Amino acid sequence: MARAYLPRVQRVTSAIAGLLLGVLGAGVAGMSWAPFSHADAGDPRVVNGDDVDQGQFPYLVALLETERFERDGAFLAQYCAGVLTTPSTVVTAAHCVVDPDSSTLGQIRTVEPHELVVGVGSVLKTSAIRRFIVTKVAVHPKFDPRTGRNDLAILTLTTPVENRRPLLPMLPAEHSAYAMAGMTARIAGWGSVRSYPPSYPRTLHAGRVTLFPARACGGGHRYSVDATQFYGFDAEDVDPTTMLCAVGVGPQGAVIDSCQGDSGGPLVVGDGRQARLVGITSWGVECAGDRPGVYTKIEAMTDFLREHNALGRAQPTFAPEVTAIPLHQAIRVTFLDADPSTPAAQFAASAVDAATGASYACYAKQRTDEIRPSCVITGLTNGSSYSVSGFASTDLGDSPASQPQTVTPLPVPTPGRILSWRWVDADTVRISTSRSEGNGSPLRTPSVVCVPIDGGAPKGATIKSGAAVIHGLRRVRHLCSVTATNDVGSTISVPRVLPVPRNR
Ligand code: ARG
Repeated sequence: MARAYLPRVQRVTSAIAGLLLGVLGAGVAGMSWAPFSHADAGDPRVVNGDDVDQGQFPYLVALLETERFERDGAFLAQYCAGVLTTPSTVVTAAHCVVDPDSSTLGQIRTVEPHELVVGVGSVLKTSAIRRFIVTKVAVHPKFDPRTGRNDLAILTLTTPVENRRPLLPMLPAEHSAYAMAGMTARIAGWGSVRSYPPSYPRTLHAGRVTLFPARACGGGHRYSVDATQFYGFDAEDVDPTTMLCAVGVGPQGAVIDSCQGDSGGPLVVGDGRQARLVGITSWGVECAGDRPGVYTKIEAMTDFLREHNALGRAQPTFAPEVTAIPLHQAIRVTFLDADPSTPAAQFAASAVDAATGASYACYAKQRTDEIRPSCVITGLTNGSSYSVSGFASTDLGDSPASQPQTVTPLPVPTPGRILSWRWVDADTVRISTSRSEGNGSPLRTPSVVCVPIDGGAPKGATIKSGAAVIHGLRRVRHLCSVTATNDVGSTISVPRVLPVPRNR
């Protein structure tokens, strides 16, 4: 079977074309590439896709061979596609930037950054193509041109592409939402609209394809898409841990597939902000035949993407700052997000019993007010030591855990909560609280303390008959909490924000 790692041979005649063309020879020892007839029905569409406006694929870019671009323009210089996963990183296929002949020498030669430029703009046959200079070409360290495994590369641009929303790569944790067999994905590119002879469209083309199960990708099974049966690859040809298969069937039964020149482009699942990059166009056997197209499986590429800052809205890089205070049979953990560039959606903390290894946890949502997120780990034993650490998470992953701290719960009081407040006049408030508990030793009179948000002196008052009346507040927001003290120690409740009194 022939792996058509074919570039747009008819237009690219220069250095890169030579490199890419070589993939064919080097990559498929003993295999030959023979023209095929399946998709050669003359219907000019990706193969059997639709003409689309680039507004639908703002993150799609064209890889242009520099010399050819300068001489003949973008249409003739385009040979692969790429995907902006951040404003300054383009994810593409490794075979788009690797000299295939070099692999037979045992060492892969990567093209120099100046040999290609990144073109932004949808109609290649216009001068309205913005060009971006590449400073770094990083090929996946385990890219194998012979098998096509790990066919991924990351280009870093000298200047970010403005006004184009990047596409987030999907993460392994998102597998069930984005990469289950049978899900629909979209592919797009400027590649050939038929298998042979190639024919390149003036405009961007796109189509819908269906994701294959692993056993029908590299397990030899057949798989039907809309009543059309496709043949899977054998295990020795496809590695389903780094590759995924997809193909589509149009309304009239026409097979929709990527083709030569689409390599490096996206396989996208989901719409709008929910959209994720699930695959990168890699290879196929002819185009739109009886086998699916093969895509680099992005969920298996997370480490490489992260290493080259191409993971988009990254998982938080830094552990949050964690404050753990002992409570009665519990530990309260307060979080401070240490990584404002990737705001955490939530925080979690765990307490591991040093003696038994039993583990307890709590979770806190990110907050938008001045109060730090916190949660209470309950069900603990007074006097036992617990190792406490916390981490921050976004929907893209977790930060590393914070440095563990040892905390021992104690029978300190459980302070009451602030239930409500009423302004007595413009600088006096009456704050109602629930009862504080002594937890086994006599409770001294609890109090409420309010700290002005802009710093400045706190104001407080003791609680009598369930309420504290606090005088002399300034016209700023305050953070107020209950403090309760017994023979063992003091505990402060989680604060609440006391708003500025309304004018009346
Ligand atoms: N290797 C091709 C390229 O360099 C992509 C081939 C995709 N083929 C397919 N049948 N899906 O552009």
